[in-house]
Amino acid sequence: MCGIVGYIGNGNVYKILINGLKRLEYRGYDSAGMALVAPDGKLSVYKAKGKVSNLEDYCSDKSLDACAGIAHTRWATHGEPSDNNAHPHYSEDGRLALVHNGTIENYKLLRDALQQHGCHFKTETDTEVLVQLIEYIRTTNACSLVDAVREALNQVIGAYAIAVVERDNPDTIIAARKSSPLVVGIGNDEMFLGSDGTPFVEYTDKVVYVNDNEIAVIRRGEPLKIITLDNREAKVDVKKLALSIAQLEKGGYPHFMLKEIFEQPSTLTDCIRGRVVDNGYSVRLNGVFDHQDKFLNCNRMIIVACGTSWHASLLGKQLIQDMCGIPVEVEYASEFRYSNPVITPRDIVIAVSQSGETADTLAAIQIARQKGAFVYGISNVVGASIPRETHSGTYIHVGPEIGVASTKAFTGQVTVFTLLALSIAQLKGSMDQETISKVAGYLLRIPELVKETLRLDDKIRQLSLIYTYARNFLYLGRGYSYPVALEGALKLKEISYIHAEGYPAAEMKHGPIALIDSEMPTVIIAPKDHLYEKIVSNVQQVKSRGGSIIAIVTKGDTVIRDLADHVLEVPDVPECLTPLITSIPLQLLSYYIAINKGKNVDMPRNLAKSVTVE
Ligand code: M6R
Repeated sequence: MCGIVGYIGNGNVYKILINGLKRLEYRGYDSAGMALVAPDGKLSVYKAKGKVSNLEDYCSDKSLDACAGIAHTRWATHGEPSDNNAHPHYSEDGRLALVHNGTIENYKLLRDALQQHGCHFKTETDTEVLVQLIEYIRTTNACSLVDAVREALNQVIGAYAIAVVERDNPDTIIAARKSSPLVVGIGNDEMFLGSDGTPFVEYTDKVVYVNDNEIAVIRRGEPLKIITLDNREAKVDVKKLALSIAQLEKGGYPHFMLKEIFEQPSTLTDCIRGRVVDNGYSVRLNGVFDHQDKFLNCNRMIIVACGTSWHASLLGKQLIQDMCGIPVEVEYASEFRYSNPVITPRDIVIAVSQSGETADTLAAIQIARQKGAFVYGISNVVGASIPRETHSGTYIHVGPEIGVASTKAFTGQVTVFTLLALSIAQLKGSMDQETISKVAGYLLRIPELVKETLRLDDKIRQLSLIYTYARNFLYLGRGYSYPVALEGALKLKEISYIHAEGYPAAEMKHGPIALIDSEMPTVIIAPKDHLYEKIVSNVQQVKSRGGSIIAIVTKGDTVIRDLADHVLEVPDVPECLTPLITSIPLQLLSYYIAINKGKNVDMPRNLAKSVTVE
């Protein structure tokens, strides 16, 4: 979703901003723009619909001399994607320019009031209201820019991360946040702004995560100053950015998605490292051990998440229920937040989010906290909002995921859920130590078994050619394989734009079976588990209606091999670990089908990596 970059210093402002915007492309956007402040006080805004490269083309004959600047990638919410609606927006007198992520909920009210004071608007965006409001306050109150921003933000209802520059004030950038991410990078005689650390990772690893209701005052030659919306000076807490430039490159792969699929043996090693201890005998998650009383006294868990993270959460539910005997509910964060949830202080709410910035999940956490629950986070991005808003939690440590389609984050989340369930089971004594050690021992072998599964790559590439032009797909699974079916279907639809549905296999006969014919391929996830015999009959039901079947089976399977059109054999693992293996061929299948169709797998249409608005 929208991304912000900013820079003040002696470097090439334009180049730093353009490269920063390119780094944020992965978040998803449909237009881009920048505002440059020249040393002589000239403020220029350049904008273009479409890719950052369009903005570069547009800027090729422009004056780019600058000592500070802000830039933006926009994912349209209020008003269509267009040059005009792209950010930055000027204030009426052209003195201020502002970029904004998020949504201003009371923009209509503010706009009407400003129009009554004679303001004219050029765009349909909520953002233009904000810049006009700041200018109006600055002029009528004859106050400083930072005071005008603070006063304006006190009138705003909604979510925002903003950055503002001023024509006659070339040595200052004012930035602020509420519910949308914002990070300041501190270099030598220069400062950076970003929606995350990716735009400036090669320049500094010193970062300050701006908190909600804080304003960052970034001035040339002065240390960073942070004030709150009620005008108190806040602590500037400098952290080390846990990111490297190599992690942001494709490393020889044609796409980030393929790189991230193939990285899984090493990302899962990183995820497990230091968490299976005593030579594989036990499991230790500090986030659990530090809050043992909460986990021992918990009556119920509620997991909140969106998209792929929600699918991983369904697996988390099965793992925790099976291993710990604690009742678990899984909710879409977007539904949970408006459902007036009944939560008691003995409930644990687990929030799962790769980005750590998903607006609905963040809102769900706030509600859970208000109602007295202990909130545990499972995130990937270190220092993001969700890990900062939770009482405790675990990072999945799979490194930056750039491809919009989540792959390594899914397996990382499922791995952390396995570790979480084992840790709690160990604490509660709900599982015998021998079984815990056996599962933990297998978990240590998962990276190597994922590597073995990735050898299916060539076979899946060939297979994808047969199914590239299918218009619909059905994905079926039972038990631990049901969330894998949902995830497989989501992967296919989001990058190939083929309609795909994931279903519990036994539910098929209650409706979707009507769709099956020779044109409707069915992907069946059928490892050797306690529901295997049941799923064999589901395979037969599809077969007898002329459907073609791609089956993911355990090595050595002979029964489904005879029924299915194509089988992909995966290594045998304990049932609770099968999703970590069976999801791999589905990632590859969707990748190759999308590639065959010529789709942009890393940045599919309309999608954003980090969904920071409702
Ligand atoms: O960052 P999050 O895990 O909170 O993101 C949730 C979803 O937006 C995300 O998983 C989305 O569904 C992916 N594009 C799926 O591949």
